[in-house]
Amino acid sequence: MSGVPAHLDKIVWNDSLVIGVPVIDEQHALLCSLANRLLDHPEARAQHEFVVDIITELGKFLILHFKTEEMMMRQLGVPADEYEHHVRAHNQIIDEYADLNMAAAHGGHHTSLEIFNLVKQWVGDHFHCSDAKIRNYLPAPSAAG
Ligand SMILES: [Fe+2]
Repeated sequence: MSGVPAHLDKIVWNDSLVIGVPVIDEQHALLCSLANRLLDHPEARAQHEFVVDIITELGKFLILHFKTEEMMMRQLGVPADEYEHHVRAHNQIIDEYADLNMAAAHGGHHTSLEIFNLVKQWVGDHFHCSDAKIRNYLPAPSAAG
């Protein structure tokens, strides 16, 4: 019997999270599965090799994903003010990630579960407040097939 809380809710990928840009949707799905891996060992400390590997991968992936998303928004003609607002939201997540990474490297007492909950909040809040708006700029489906 472990002391693991019963409410380990994984991030569930479903149609409500689909933006409609395949490369972004694939990255979002990968990001969710990467975060969910933290729940394989929810009580592991941030310094545990398992957690360090995921934190490292998460950092690389977030940077790649945000660059992709920002490029896509420029291609879709997202207005400058909305684009800037979205980029600021990305930068804020990168700052929070850097704080987490620094704390983990300096013996912070985060557990894998706490890190998961933080990432889940980033993903959820950011998706609904920023990413979902990208749908407004997608070209209408062409009738000519
Ligand atoms: Fe975004």
